[in-house]
Amino acid sequence: MSEIKFYARPEVPVEMHKVKIVQKLNLLPAKERLKKMQEAGFNTFMLHNGDIFMDMLTDSGVNAMSDNQQAAMLRADDAYAGSETFYRMEKKLTEIFGINHLLPTHQGRACEHIIAQHFVKPDSCVIMNYHFTTSKAHVTRLGGRVEELVKDEGLVVKSNLPFKGNIDLDKVKACIEREGADNIAFLRLEAGTNLIGGQPISYENMKEATELAKSYGITTVLDASLLQDNLYFIKTREESMKEKTIPEITRMVADLFDLIYFSGRKFGFGRGGGILIRDEKLFHEMEDYVTMFEGFLTYGGMSVKEMEALIIGFEETMDLDIISQGPQFIKHCVSILDSMGVPMVTPGGGLGAHIDARQVVDHIPADQYPAGALTVALYLCGGIRGMERGTLSEERNPDGSEHIASVEMVRLAFPRRVFTLSQTEYVIDRVKWLYDHRHLVGGLRFVHEPKTLRFFTGKLEPVSDWPEKLIAEFIKDFGEDQ
Ligand code: F0G
Repeated sequence: MSEIKFYARPEVPVEMHKVKIVQKLNLLPAKERLKKMQEAGFNTFMLHNGDIFMDMLTDSGVNAMSDNQQAAMLRADDAYAGSETFYRMEKKLTEIFGINHLLPTHQGRACEHIIAQHFVKPDSCVIMNYHFTTSKAHVTRLGGRVEELVKDEGLVVKSNLPFKGNIDLDKVKACIEREGADNIAFLRLEAGTNLIGGQPISYENMKEATELAKSYGITTVLDASLLQDNLYFIKTREESMKEKTIPEITRMVADLFDLIYFSGRKFGFGRGGGILIRDEKLFHEMEDYVTMFEGFLTYGGMSVKEMEALIIGFEETMDLDIISQGPQFIKHCVSILDSMGVPMVTPGGGLGAHIDARQVVDHIPADQYPAGALTVALYLCGGIRGMERGTLSEERNPDGSEHIASVEMVRLAFPRRVFTLSQTEYVIDRVKWLYDHRHLVGGLRFVHEPKTLRFFTGKLEPVSDWPEKLIAEFIKDFGEDQ
């Protein structure tokens, strides 16, 4: 049962689990939050976790584990080579995806590294519905290019389209014709398209796109890191798939692809990663990258304990009750904020709730990182750590100018099974306060700007004393200790 009906109370999503282990949270007073943010160089990645009340940075590696996952970790079979745990993991993934060969890796970007090493040549082109930061960085590092061919409507922030992650088949065809099929390294479809707001791709679209690629002999790759939410949306939003079970849908999706990779930090409620490869010859060709960069072929950089937890996590991902919670909480958060007038990416997708920073702080110039500034402001006003997903997360153009992102968002991730509905209400409340005081938020500029993936470790400063003014206003409304 994935949705519980109510008699006298307004319907809200109900957790289909109970809490057995807890971690105490710390809400620092407002002025201390300002100090911590200054020390962190106005970059939420650089905050210490102990200084954060609601950590909504990501769902990566921070999803709560179940009792069964914890129990499974005790039976992990430690061995450098030939660990029984690895064979159990391979068997489970084969059962779910119907693909026999597994290359283990330490996390998702390691899969991207290996796939790029194998397929990308200088000036070759990778077609994607949309890029993810690390997936693009691995392609461009090797001199390749990324063509993002999501349908134009996927970038419309406020919408009611069920599958905004769908790729534009006409554009794919035109791109292949223009580049020549031999110059396309592979087609990468990302389930639960991260950087446009965790928006799903339909089964129908995946089928058509992969058939098109295959008709040109192009390798098809699924980034399944966010497949969990995408499966839920296929089941609940795609008319022709309503009667199918989650395992059936998963197998139908998997059947479309030559390679499937995942970050186990998202898919499987654990930490790790893997590439499933259909073709045995290709599998053997790619093995060396694992032994060179990750570890031996039966652990690939993962701890065996985590692998055992993942095996159970994969099983849990096939359970509609379990995978419903994330999207339902996100929908709750997005629809309330939307109804209060806060510009949100709609419809709510997977992964998290996304605020449209371009609209909220439309007075901040694009090269002063509106979403970055709003992310900072939200920590100041509530100890809530979100993640900038916009221009700051892009790399500069080759001529040094800013590459202005097509969408400029603050992401409030909902790690699975972690936060309660009352905590979600707190977040909604603080976002609304910030929205009503948005004119107080100003821009940011870099003081230390790394060349690659600058959003992770870059240091910034505010362009004025706006953080002090914002905190002063906050204290007026809530007092010193909130
Ligand atoms: N692909 C997608 C769609 C992702 O969302 C991520 C990670 C990766 C690949 C890389 O996996 O982190 O295990 O190396 N997304 C995280 C996030 C970082 O916060 O959205 P990884």
